[in-house]
Amino acid sequence: MHPAYEEIWKNKDSKKFISNHINYALPIIEKNNIKRILDLGCGPCKGASFLLQEKGFDVYAFDASKTAIKKCSEKIDESKLKIGNMYETLPYENDFFDCVICFSAINHGTKKEITKCLAEISRILKKNGLFFVSHTPKKYLLKEKENIFINLVDKEKWFYSEKENTFVPVSGREKGVIHCFLEEKELESELEKFFELQKINNKKVIETDSRHYFAFGKNKK
Ligand SMILES: C[S@@+](CC[C@H](N)C(=O)[O-])C[C@H]1O[C@@H](n2cnc3c(N)ncnc32)[C@H](O)[C@@H]1O
Repeated sequence: MHPAYEEIWKNKDSKKFISNHINYALPIIEKNNIKRILDLGCGPCKGASFLLQEKGFDVYAFDASKTAIKKCSEKIDESKLKIGNMYETLPYENDFFDCVICFSAINHGTKKEITKCLAEISRILKKNGLFFVSHTPKKYLLKEKENIFINLVDKEKWFYSEKENTFVPVSGREKGVIHCFLEEKELESELEKFFELQKINNKKVIETDSRHYFAFGKNKK
């Protein structure tokens, strides 16, 4: 696991890496009969899990970073927290969750790893359970020259890595951290392997900000 996120979460100024994507999901979560939720790639739990717990949901959280999970333990029972790699078998039983959220996190692997992770999410979710995800959009990467791209959002340079469809920033706090960027249709078709995508404002994938696509679906199995 790349150590950059340990450093990011140790730093007091880590807000930039905490998403507000729960704001898109919460009204839908509240309307459905949801009790048990997993926050996959939860970070320090300040974005989503603490809020969901305050609202009375039974919250579990999972992340690769020890530092992040330690911060989550300030409010969430340790028995519901796990440190691990989301691209490996997830440590939960089949049909365990009513809902899984994964914000700005599933994109830290190759497309193959992401597909494996989606299959795992489908396994641990109940049939028709809800999955909410946000992912990085490819359209903001502009090819400068071979293997070097400019991220049009912050003008940072990104290297195309040998790993299939992945890019790494050459500077900044996420230096060296793998990101997978997908086109809107690519993301749709990956998700549709396992989930029946639900429309938001007539679209299956919406843009939350220039850095993320957001989508949600019902578990098909
Ligand atoms: C940009 S942060 C997002 C945190 C949180 N989901 C949010 O929306 O605020 C990405 C998180 O993904 C975690 N992460 C990256 N690769 C991971 C992996 N392979 N398995 C589990 N977590 C991972 C990082 O440790 C980090 O906490």
